[in-house]
Amino acid sequence: MNSFRYSGKELTCDGVSVARIAAEVGTPAYIYSLAGIEANYDRIDRAIGAYPHVVCYALKANSNPEILRRLAARGAGADVVSGGELRLALQAGFPAKKIVYAGVGKTDAEIRLAIQAGILALNVESRQELEVTAQIAQEMGQTAPVALRINPDIDIEGHPYLTTGKSANKFGIEMGEAKACYLWAAKQPSIKIVGVHCHVGSMIRKPDPFYKSAETLAQFVAELKSAGIEMEHIDLGGGFGVDYETVLADQGSCWLIEPEAVMEKVVPILQETGCELMFEPGRSIVGPHGVLMTRVLYTKETKGKQFAIVDAAMNDLIRPSLYGARHEVLPVMQGEGAAEPIDVVGPICESGDFLAKDYPLTPVKRGDLLAVMTAGAYGYTLASNYNTRGRGVEVLVEDGGWYVIRERENPV
Ligand code: LLP
Repeated sequence: MNSFRYSGKELTCDGVSVARIAAEVGTPAYIYSLAGIEANYDRIDRAIGAYPHVVCYALKANSNPEILRRLAARGAGADVVSGGELRLALQAGFPAKKIVYAGVGKTDAEIRLAIQAGILALNVESRQELEVTAQIAQEMGQTAPVALRINPDIDIEGHPYLTTGKSANKFGIEMGEAKACYLWAAKQPSIKIVGVHCHVGSMIRKPDPFYKSAETLAQFVAELKSAGIEMEHIDLGGGFGVDYETVLADQGSCWLIEPEAVMEKVVPILQETGCELMFEPGRSIVGPHGVLMTRVLYTKETKGKQFAIVDAAMNDLIRPSLYGARHEVLPVMQGEGAAEPIDVVGPICESGDFLAKDYPLTPVKRGDLLAVMTAGAYGYTLASNYNTRGRGVEVLVEDGGWYVIRERENPV
């Protein structure tokens, strides 16, 4: 269930007035619902049930330290993609033995850090990275826990930037080469083979790619077993899409894919292999439970075009500019009058700086508050200081109250 709904004419987050929060902390502001985030994590965890597993939350979706602490305390593992994320995960209290680390370009220092920390698995993405990892572990007098990231050539039929499991993508090792890599790795005293990994993309709308990934990896594990190589886990990556259109609590679910339906099929496939299941959701845990609050600075009209110039910009939320993503934009106080198409744009000196284009909104005026919905994932984590703009404040709503979980940068 989504966390945001209108109470009367006013938008609320778990019953708390978002206008009141904005009045106190200013805008742009990210507001998140802790209850919503925890409920989505729990739903995925429960869907896997009693089968041995770790839900490794993908930090790249939202790495606010307070949100990380809460997920760690709930028993989540972590999926990280850099030394910075690895340090954050450890500081937030994720046990090292529940952290997996994928990334096509790990530096020597990052590999060293991961081995030193004793993480669950380095998800290795090339033959050369495997050799370098073996070398570094040997120099350290340690053993590196390794899973190879397989590129299974599965098409998620999504946005090209969010597709990662096709041969044309930079990620992972092709099936053909992967077996030879495992056979080589098995002979290295400084490598411990722990599993096999894949992540075929993000914002996946149908369950099929998950079944295909599970089947492909399970088959591969069986093949390796007959070659004398044993696996402890299969990691299916993340990728559950979320509904960017049905954004209010009373409109329905925020899920595009039912986790229970996926796991009902995936778990038996894994059971055959005896491998533990790792899953790395990011967007589906935090995405629907965050909004970006922004205030209208000016309105203006050019020939046949209406603009609302707001105080949030592409540096706060780049998804519309980068992927052509459509986020719903809701007035915090429901307005009167007929909705008309308007471009909601930021103050940045680029025409690509928009939050919504030709979006139907009831008339807006200077000072009005707007909420850009479903912004809890890949919002703040992709924010930048472009145009020397400070990044906004982040707020967490919990149990009818709220507090700042990251201060605004360089307030003017
Ligand atoms: N595991 C790996 C190895 C990944 O690369 C990703 C996302 C995930 C897990 C989590 O996927 P999720 O469950 O969040 O779909 N910035 C883009 C999304 C990029 C996703 C990158 N990798 C966006 O705003 O849509």
